[in-house]
Amino acid sequence: MRAAALIILGGLTLAGGTPLSAGDPAEGRKVANMCRTCHGIDGLAQIPIAPNIGGEPEAYLESQLMAFKTGAREHEMMSVVAAGLSAQQISDVAAWYGAHVASARLPDGVSEADAPDACVSCHGADGIALLPEAPNLAGEVNIYIDTQLKAFRTGKRRHDIMSSIAAEMTDEEIRAVADWYAAVQLEITGPE
Ligand code: HEC
Ligand code: HEC
Repeated sequence: MRAAALIILGGLTLAGGTPLSAGDPAEGRKVANMCRTCHGIDGLAQIPIAPNIGGEPEAYLESQLMAFKTGAREHEMMSVVAAGLSAQQISDVAAWYGAHVASARLPDGVSEADAPDACVSCHGADGIALLPEAPNLAGEVNIYIDTQLKAFRTGKRRHDIMSSIAAEMTDEEIRAVADWYAAVQLEITGPE
């Protein structure tokens, strides 16, 4: 699994070679006033259906906002939000949330060795992503993780790696990995 993941990662790096336009976190903080009712000003989710986004890799945040804007990823709330943002505002707000630091603590009684083998090479045992293209999963609500995996499985959301991983998973396996990452304690600290 680890060797296979490394080969896929090599491909990712080649494919993802486009440089990001530099985002300004201070400008991004102003944009984040549009996000705070759902994601918090620091990226700690305020409503159960919204994911935590503070301390996510900046490249991931930017790519998802662009995906909502272009329609490659769809959601009744986020598609509307992203449609109203310029590419510069997207870079800035990604820089703001990306400048935070996410840290995670496993629940008592489990260790990293208990983490789902198929996910750890990219998402970490504790759900803090190990590569810039991948999101943190630590402390996301299990229904959010479950919904995203099923969206990859049905093709509603597409991504080379995740679509093929999710295609092989049963509902029970999806629920088990969602519960693992949902149980992790997430802490987000600001850049200020
Ligand atoms: C009305 C609530 C709401 C507002 C306001 C909102 N969001 Fe969201 N956001 C959501 C929800 C709900 C999702 C989950 C979408 C899904 O299920 O696919 C989401 C998903 C996201 C994601 C994808 C995260 C991931 O882990 O894949 C990003 C990035 C994001 N929002 C950024 C923002 C930014 C930046 C703003 C402000 C400019 C914003 N959102 C405003 C509700 C909101
Ligand atoms: C080889 C790397 C890799 C592996 C292994 C991997 N993922 Fe991912 N995962 C990614 C990348 C990259 C993304 C971002 C997809 C996108 O851009 O839409 C992602 C996205 C996700 C998302 C969407 C999260 C969000 O915030 O919207 C979930 C949920 C997820 N992965 C769960 C898993 C689980 C559970 C496993 C193990 C069964 C796993 N992944 C294995 C790389 C990986």
